[in-house]
Amino acid sequence: MKKNLAIYHISAIKNFEKISNLDDLKNFEQNFLGKKSELAVFFKELKNLTNEEKKEIGPFLQNIKKDLSAKIQQKRQNLELSELNKKLEKDWIDVTQNISPEEIGHIHPISQVQREVEKNFFSMGFEIADGPEIETEFNNFDALNIPTNHPARDMQDTFWIHSKSNDPQKNFVLRTQTSDVQIRKMLKEGAPIKLIAPGRVFRNEDIDASHGAVFFQIEGLLIDKNISMAHLKGTLETMLSEIFEKKITIRFRPGYFPFVEPGLEVDFSCTLCTGKGCKTCKNTGWIEFCGAGMVHPNVLKTCNIDPEVYSGFAFGFGLSRLTMMKYGINDHRLFFGMKKEFLEQF
Ligand code: DAH
Repeated sequence: MKKNLAIYHISAIKNFEKISNLDDLKNFEQNFLGKKSELAVFFKELKNLTNEEKKEIGPFLQNIKKDLSAKIQQKRQNLELSELNKKLEKDWIDVTQNISPEEIGHIHPISQVQREVEKNFFSMGFEIADGPEIETEFNNFDALNIPTNHPARDMQDTFWIHSKSNDPQKNFVLRTQTSDVQIRKMLKEGAPIKLIAPGRVFRNEDIDASHGAVFFQIEGLLIDKNISMAHLKGTLETMLSEIFEKKITIRFRPGYFPFVEPGLEVDFSCTLCTGKGCKTCKNTGWIEFCGAGMVHPNVLKTCNIDPEVYSGFAFGFGLSRLTMMKYGINDHRLFFGMKKEFLEQF
């Protein structure tokens, strides 16, 4: 029996050495140490031996069992470790890899200037207000003193979404200006009020270097007691001087916008030649900047604000245009061209 056991042990070790994965190891354990293994049969046969034989074979058998168990345990640890390593190698991430910042992207130049303007007005106590891009005909036109059939409607070629109703509250347009936010906020909150409304606007324009069907505006509104055009001048000069990082002055010219009286065109001193005259300002020393004026009493009345008590100014300018001036860009189409080489400069 001892000889049989020795043969058994040798053949077990030979089989053991071929094992290279955890499944095979499990099978091996079952076949050579399990309840139905030959080893189990040897243990059963012990009882048929004489006492002398038992003393010799018993420990021999135990040693084989111990040896195989120890080998299995050791191998299991090694295989588990190497399978874990293999998995780690497959899922490996190089946390030290250097990703260059250009590939992450950054804020679009128009949004950068928008944020600067917002920060500036915010520091002067203006609220940043928002409104929907699909607007009622009423908020976009009627409430701004531009009733149906008023010739001023021709100033803004409109994308209509629904225009079949006689009720301007039930017709919808892609808003042509962010002046609509004035109306929304005044109707909701009354006076005094102090806000800017940045946002996207839409017009049915032929597209060229300075016109687009989609562009960005910032509207401003301040309604309180005893507000004059001097406040408007001071506010716009403060903001522009911040944006261009130098002292900027503005001038008013008469202009027509139905929602203000008097209405104004606002120019600022040319940032390149500081008023001496150059190509950019067409030798005038001034750059056309925005529309503005004192809010028309009709607009205040529509929004339930008493024009005998309150007055205020409003203005509206193109954000693309301001960004173009700040960075010396001569074609607004570049902003929407998705050209990495262009956008990476800002
Ligand atoms: N909403 C006008 C436009 O898009 C700009 C504007 C002009 C806004 C005069 C104003 C204003 O608030 O007073 O052309």
